[in-house]
Amino acid sequence: MLAIDGGPKVRTTPFPKRHLLGAEEKAAAVALFDRAMETGDAIGYGGPEEQAYEREFAQFMGGGYADLVNSGSSALYVALGALELAPAGEVIVPPITDPGGVMPVALLNLVPVVADAHPGSFNSGAEQIAAVLTPHTRAIVVAHIAGEPAEMDAILALAAARGLPVIEDCAQSHGARYQGRLVGSLGAIAAFSTMSGKHHATGPQGGVVYTADEQLYWRAKRFSDRGKPFNTDSPSNVRAGLNLNGNDLAAAVGRVQLRKLAGITQRRRQVAGRIIAGLGQLQAVRAGWEAPQSEGVYWFMRLRVEAARLKVDKDTFARAVAAEGIPVTASYRHLPSEARWFRERLVFPPSDYPWGLPAYQGDRQAQFPCPNAVEAAETHFVLAVHENYTDQEVTDILAALRKVEDAYLK
Ligand SMILES: Cc1ncc(COP(=O)(O)O)c(C=O)c1O
Repeated sequence: MLAIDGGPKVRTTPFPKRHLLGAEEKAAAVALFDRAMETGDAIGYGGPEEQAYEREFAQFMGGGYADLVNSGSSALYVALGALELAPAGEVIVPPITDPGGVMPVALLNLVPVVADAHPGSFNSGAEQIAAVLTPHTRAIVVAHIAGEPAEMDAILALAAARGLPVIEDCAQSHGARYQGRLVGSLGAIAAFSTMSGKHHATGPQGGVVYTADEQLYWRAKRFSDRGKPFNTDSPSNVRAGLNLNGNDLAAAVGRVQLRKLAGITQRRRQVAGRIIAGLGQLQAVRAGWEAPQSEGVYWFMRLRVEAARLKVDKDTFARAVAAEGIPVTASYRHLPSEARWFRERLVFPPSDYPWGLPAYQGDRQAQFPCPNAVEAAETHFVLAVHENYTDQEVTDILAALRKVEDAYLK
């Protein structure tokens, strides 16, 4: 009998925790405190630790420049700000993403325009981006949701043909590759979140702006620190900006974490690979579509349910799997186009700016139904996965999926 109907669970013990923070992170933080107490100088920001983290992050990306900031949302805000896009332009945003992956656009007085997903994916598709391009489009934000690279070739070609910069949102995709190249290195500039739930963390909150373009890097660095005149001869601040800085304590933790990142992503790929292989035995559940020649890093796994083969809908199926003791959530329905702040234009209340800006020439009322993204959200559920899963977790996941499928197949 299914656990959801009162039967025994497939899995009775909790799934393993990530144990992301260990003795090395602790030692790195304590070393900074020891130094602070010895010298009398407080732990600061932009010092040797932060500079070293930024160097090492850039090395991980294969060269270029990194700026540690205080969150992934800030990283996207800074990346967009560095591009110095004139207000009242449009920026194309992803169909399924965290609010922090869209709100920075509007907060810079740019109008977010949502591109639908590639069919079967949570990520924007080139065709869907092309469908919402207008003469007012100024940039394209592409997110690699769940650690799965978006299909970038066609997107980059489209952007290049129109002279539009691509901003990659890599919050969920540290170390993922598209055609062998690291995501974050494909567009003009990239934003990463390094909060504690991500593949590697700089502490409880954090983010990184990355670019291979030195001029763009300096613009980002100035904008993330109140427009300080870094790398200029200006006697005073060159632009208005917030203080979105990272700090040396975050960087010290991040440096240790960065050394673990390759192992973490490799292990996640192994775990996901075993689960995907096991899905071959099922009839109504399969792995979500992934872009060809891409290597995901599985921030979570998207599993697709063929509800037509079942007596129940996807959400009921997912709830039954969860009841078996498996970390499953029924949906990842985070569509900016469905969010209240977006639909009701609540960015600079009581105005409807940026949509209402006198300079905005586009469609102020535009809403974006995103049928592909809705279809993807309605047909996929979310399986939590991470680097500490062993063969036992994989076995239990597959056993629970099989048990629930057997009970619900038509
Ligand atoms: C795709 C995406 N973009 C942006 C963000 C915002 O990052 P943060 O929470 O670090 O501000 C997140 C957070 O999870 C995210 O998943």
